[in-house]
Amino acid sequence: MKILVVGSGAREDAICQALQKNSQNVVFCAPGNDGMKLSGIKTISIEENDFERMANFAQTNSIDYTVVGPEEPLVNGIVDFFKRQNLKIFGPNQQAAQVEGSKTFTKRLMADAGIPTAQYQEFTKLEDALNYLKIVSDFPIVIKADGLAAGKGVFIAPDLVAAAEVVTDLLAEHKFNTRRVVIEEYLEGEEFSLMVFVDHKRFYPMPLAQDYKKILDGDLGPNTGGMGAVCPVANISKNIEQEAIENVLKPFVTELYDQGIKYTGILYAGLILTKKGIKVIEFNARFGDPETEVVLPRLQSDLSEIIEQILCHKKIKKIDWQIGGLNLGVFAVSKGYPIKPVFGSLGDRDTFKKCSLMINYASVRREQQQLYSHGGRLYLIQAQAETVEDAQTKVYQELEKMDQTNIFYRRDIGKNSI
Ligand code: AMP
Ligand code: GLY
Repeated sequence: MKILVVGSGAREDAICQALQKNSQNVVFCAPGNDGMKLSGIKTISIEENDFERMANFAQTNSIDYTVVGPEEPLVNGIVDFFKRQNLKIFGPNQQAAQVEGSKTFTKRLMADAGIPTAQYQEFTKLEDALNYLKIVSDFPIVIKADGLAAGKGVFIAPDLVAAAEVVTDLLAEHKFNTRRVVIEEYLEGEEFSLMVFVDHKRFYPMPLAQDYKKILDGDLGPNTGGMGAVCPVANISKNIEQEAIENVLKPFVTELYDQGIKYTGILYAGLILTKKGIKVIEFNARFGDPETEVVLPRLQSDLSEIIEQILCHKKIKKIDWQIGGLNLGVFAVSKGYPIKPVFGSLGDRDTFKKCSLMINYASVRREQQQLYSHGGRLYLIQAQAETVEDAQTKVYQELEKMDQTNIFYRRDIGKNSI
């Protein structure tokens, strides 16, 4: 099969590598990145929001189907665009992608389906938001920009002064182009991610994963796009996993279907186990990043076949996942990330080629024999092992062999599982 993957990060690298496990598949990634080429992925220089050229490429190269990685093209309607030209594409359409594009849309769906999530209020006027904050008694409080903010639109304000500052930035200055904010209750507990393949009202769960979002060891400092991930999650029991499937994913997928929203693609639930049980932090309309990097290598069934069957709305009998052991991945990021990343050389590409572990590349470009950084998150190195300690030893040994001049990484990925 000929498959086109849209996107340019480590998640798309992981999707491509999973699709390439079937040696009959030819996989293209647009725009991709230079690092991916080291694993034989063919990159095509078409930007992810250039639907016209993307569809043209699919048409002229007889692509069997396209898989969309990032949220932006989904929310902008790439699926609808391809379908109008009778091109097969895996992902939710523009209406369904609102589960990620609009926090208020998703909160309403959850309320309709009786799914537990943080109490919230939405505001479009600064004055109303400020008045509401004055009567809030519990801090910290969470303030979210409604719309896509590339993971940067969530603020945890410790007190009234900080909260007032954030809503002013969002509703008066329109930071991130915000016109509406959600102010919600702060939830405390163990976070975990559950992704499912969705075919209208049918869905197929993947194993649980956990993302380490904060920049510094010990979960300190600002949020990032993800500093590492682990799959499966030791602290979450099988019962809780089953409860999340039955009481969160099932009612949500059913509610979407009952409201006439035909969802096809990946649905990601960001969940938290609080003292009062599981609650939803967010839904995303795509594979999670960096969870996908550690989840897909554990897939034993053929990913390209799963997607093909979903696109034909055929029931899948069974999806096989590796049992036992775990996958643990650590992201090398640019020094200064996420505030002010500094770019430079990452070393000789032979060092990367010699690495004995799987690498997924993100903001990496190549000039002659050298790799260079051009963004925050650079590459994720992962290991599979029986214990967290063994996986950590393997990953950190390889990371230490890399040129350290321009990279930074957390030293405690996996700590929650020990
Ligand atoms: P989101 O973009 O909604 O996934 O939020 C990013 C991160 O902010 C989450 O993974 C949580 O760590 C944190 N967060 C979001 N909403 C809440 C909440 N209501 N309570 C506590 N933390 C939250
Ligand atoms: N890992 C969080 C996300 O993909 O949004």
